[in-house]
Amino acid sequence: MTDLHALDAYLQAHLSPHRYAHCLGTAQCARELALRFGADADKAYLAGMAHDMSKWMKGKEYLRYAQEAGIQPDAYQLANPGLLHAQVSAHLLQTLFGEQDEDVLQAIRLHMGGAPNMRKLDACVCLADWIEPGRDFPDVPELRKLAERSLELALRQALATTIILLLQEGRVVQPNSLDTYNALTQMLNRKEALV
Ligand SMILES: [Fe+2]
Ligand SMILES: [Fe+2]
Repeated sequence: MTDLHALDAYLQAHLSPHRYAHCLGTAQCARELALRFGADADKAYLAGMAHDMSKWMKGKEYLRYAQEAGIQPDAYQLANPGLLHAQVSAHLLQTLFGEQDEDVLQAIRLHMGGAPNMRKLDACVCLADWIEPGRDFPDVPELRKLAERSLELALRQALATTIILLLQEGRVVQPNSLDTYNALTQMLNRKEALV
C-alpha cells in the first residue's frame, strides 16, 4: 500500500500548486462519493490523489515513457500524448510507490471518461475529477446536485456535457466516452446501478 505522506511529497515536488490542490480535492471528493455510494473510501482517496501524478510530463515524454513501460498508445493518444496521463500515472504509482492494488490502479487508468465496464470505485474517482471543490465551470453546480443522489446519473451528465462541448468546439470525441455514456444510459434504462 502506498505511503500517503511520500505520495503527497511527490505531488508537491512535481506538480504546480494548482494541480496539487486539484489532486487533494479529487481525493477528498472521491472518498466522499465512495462513502455515499458504497465503494472503498481508502482506495478512492488514494486513486484520487494519484490520478494526475504524471501531469508534469510533456507530450514527447509521455510517448517515451509509454514505450519504455510497454504501454501501447492508441491512435488518439498518438495524436494527443497527454491522453496517456491516466495510464502513465497508474504505472508511476505502481513502480515508484509499489502500489499493487489493481482496483486503485484501474480507477486511475479509467479516470478520463471511464469505460463501459467500469465499476463503482472507478466512477467515484472519475466523477470526483469533474466536481471536486476546485472545479468551476457552468455545469458544475448541477453535477454536484446530481451526485448527491445518483452516481450513474451524475457521471452520465458529466460525460454528456463534455461530449456536447467537444462537438460544439469541433474537437475530437474519444469513442470511449461515447461508449461509456451509452453503457450508463442503458444501465439507467434498466434501473441498474454500477457494482
Ligand atoms: Fe486527469
Ligand atoms: Fe484530474
